[in-house]
Amino acid sequence: MRVAVLNGPNLNLLGTREPDLYGRDTLADIEKAVRAAGTAAGVELAWHQTNHEGAFVDLVQGLPKSADGALINAGAFTHTSLAIRDALLAVRVPFVEVHLSNIFAREEARRHSHLADLAVGIVAGFGAGSYLLGLDGLTAHLKARGR
Ligand code: DQA
Repeated sequence: MRVAVLNGPNLNLLGTREPDLYGRDTLADIEKAVRAAGTAAGVELAWHQTNHEGAFVDLVQGLPKSADGALINAGAFTHTSLAIRDALLAVRVPFVEVHLSNIFAREEARRHSHLADLAVGIVAGFGAGSYLLGLDGLTAHLKARGR
């Protein structure tokens, strides 16, 4: 099973970025933990991060060729990007939306996701654990569909 993890803007700064909110794990720490869990579950993992909306759209457009499913933390693009929503609508690759913080307990502008209704499910609020829980949910979903 092939899973792509797509990380959006500013997630490259994890570790030093608002640690009270996002924790002290770096994105590389999270990648290491997700890769370990993926290996144990027989998942082939591709890990990406970009600060650029168009590059994120390109990554989504590439999913049908490279992945059976995706974990997506689009960062602030979650709340703003119709372009990423349109790309996800176009490719129809199953994905789980993940967030370190509980976006529904934050400012009004963060309580809406342009992606959530297209997702298999959402995991938010567990810090780095959101990625691991998301991977569990995604792999179970894909297995149930014979992937
Ligand atoms: C985030 C939540 C977003 O609102 C924010 O813009 C981020 C991180 C999260 O993982 O909690 O960059 O996606």
